[in-house]
Amino acid sequence: MNNALASLFYPKLPSIIGHRGAYNSAPENTLISFRKAAQLGAKWIEIDVRLSSDKIPVVFHDNEVDRTTNGQGPVDTFTLESLQELDAGSHYHTDFSCEKVPTLLQAITLCIELNLGLNIEIKPNFGQDSETVTAILATLNPFQEQLRGNVLFSSFNLLCLKELINLSPEWPRALLVNDLNNDWLTNTKALGCYALNPSYECLASIQNVKSILASGLRIIPFTVNQISIAKNLLRLGVHSIITDDLRSLNSLKNYKI
Ligand code: G3P
Ligand code: MG
Repeated sequence: MNNALASLFYPKLPSIIGHRGAYNSAPENTLISFRKAAQLGAKWIEIDVRLSSDKIPVVFHDNEVDRTTNGQGPVDTFTLESLQELDAGSHYHTDFSCEKVPTLLQAITLCIELNLGLNIEIKPNFGQDSETVTAILATLNPFQEQLRGNVLFSSFNLLCLKELINLSPEWPRALLVNDLNNDWLTNTKALGCYALNPSYECLASIQNVKSILASGLRIIPFTVNQISIAKNLLRLGVHSIITDDLRSLNSLKNYKI
């Protein structure tokens, strides 16, 4: 793709990104969690997106609804309507019993209102790599003008990132990895990635940080909840930190090396 166009979409990354909204302060991946993140000073949040059985992109982490709602079973057996009948807040605290599973469209609309950037992690249900990307882009692309510079896609799933390049190469992509033993360099190059989002444990070795920086990739580790570790990573040149603990780490939001 044309580089001038891609550069218009480069994300204006903050030092700190709220994991699943404000994970420690509200039920994950809910609208109240996104509002809480903004209240706590976050400029960006990370959310997980997959499809309901009627193929609507919803903000939801697990394959099953059991851990974070009062329902049972795989997400891809719930229509949007039946998903939104569930209580998605009481698992965190009964004060949040009215929280629902948001659609991606609801999340985008709220993030525009709150001026929050979005790291959209694509987490396809089994076998739905391509259709998840198609549905997400159909929801997101009408907001291209408002959102460019404020969106970064990420995924552990190589097929999803490949489909993103095929369909909408202008949106920046990050590869998520749990370790650096695999082909992170080959894969990020082949997928034209903007960033590598590794588990922060991969960065315990300074040499690893240096190798990733030398490749030209931005580094956005997850999920860092200790301020001393976050500070050290930012000092080493890591670009942005994904955290559950916005209350503590937001003191680093204007961190400059
Ligand atoms: O995107 C960073 C992080 O969210 C990846 O892992 O399981 O929390 O979605 P997970
Ligand atoms: Mg995630």
